Amino acid sequence: DWSMAEFRAAKIAEIRAQVGQGRVICGLSGGVDSAVAAVLIHEAIGEQLTCVFVDHGLMRSGEADQVVSLFRGHYNIPLVHVNAETLFLNGLAGVTDPEAKRKFIGKTFIDVFEDEARKIGGAEFLAQGTLYPDVIESVSFTGGPSVTIKSHHNVGGLPERMDMKLVEPLRELFKDEVRELGRELGLPEIFVGRHPFPGPGLAIRIPGEVTRERCDILRKADAIYLEEIRNAGLYDAIWQAFAVLLPVRTVGVMGDGRTYDSVLALRAVTSTDGMTAEVFGFPGDFLPRVATRIVNEVRGINRVVYDYTSKPPGTIEWE
Ligand code: XMP
Repeated sequence: DWSMAEFRAAKIAEIRAQVGQGRVICGLSGGVDSAVAAVLIHEAIGEQLTCVFVDHGLMRSGEADQVVSLFRGHYNIPLVHVNAETLFLNGLAGVTDPEAKRKFIGKTFIDVFEDEARKIGGAEFLAQGTLYPDVIESVSFTGGPSVTIKSHHNVGGLPERMDMKLVEPLRELFKDEVRELGRELGLPEIFVGRHPFPGPGLAIRIPGEVTRERCDILRKADAIYLEEIRNAGLYDAIWQAFAVLLPVRTVGVMGDGRTYDSVLALRAVTSTDGMTAEVFGFPGDFLPRVATRIVNEVRGINRVVYDYTSKPPGTIEWE
């Protein structure tokens, strides 16, 4: 695409001018935005960039490995991979308030990142994959007074604390433009087309207390849902699809026995920027088939429901 090629060239020049001979550290979240930012910056300044992937263990099945192999294998970009699952899960024990989860995860993310940055000798610049909607939504909620609906931890905090200057080459872009830029940079389609995933990960898709066991149950169910969506050829028609493991148990029957297990909610929405969203309508027997598979294959879930709420008044995530 001509305009993206131009954007790419302009941003590369801009990054070089901003950074000079300085060193840049980029925090990877596992998502598309930070990956595209990192690849673009690497193209601009090469070895002056180091990427740090703080792996909080709250990602979907297999996604953390994909990031690591993409950076180390495909692009050969220096990457520090920190496995901090235990640290995060220990800190989340007993935490049920959604904003408390976000705040803990955001703060711990910064602590771990800061430690790693220090270990590699620091840097003058911090790169982030901040998009235009992040800039807007973290400031205020349009349509009312300045109220923060959810604190998005990828904006603010770290640069002041570490006395670093920000490099945010995607700041003017919407999600679809970031994907286009990713393709322009040669990122694999399976990665570029990935649905957005929130920084706090599965922690905000498990209302109530987050435990390793509940993360594992959710990962299994979510993987079945996404596998069926891909097989049905619906993945690219959806903005985000995911499962939410509810802190509610209901009675069911399985074989000769009574079960008393968790309820799983499925959600799928269409959107262009995440600021508003419509419910995705699945064809005919899709949802009943997924529900049957999940209840049969995932121990701990005996009931599946579908979320029909648009945004507004709902948000995309449940927390
Ligand atoms: P909501 O739930 O606010 O989500 O309608 C809008 C978009 O933002 C994502 N989201 C987050 N992303 N940190 C993030 O990096 C967060 O705390 C967070 N909360 C929501 C959500 O997945 C959707 O794409």
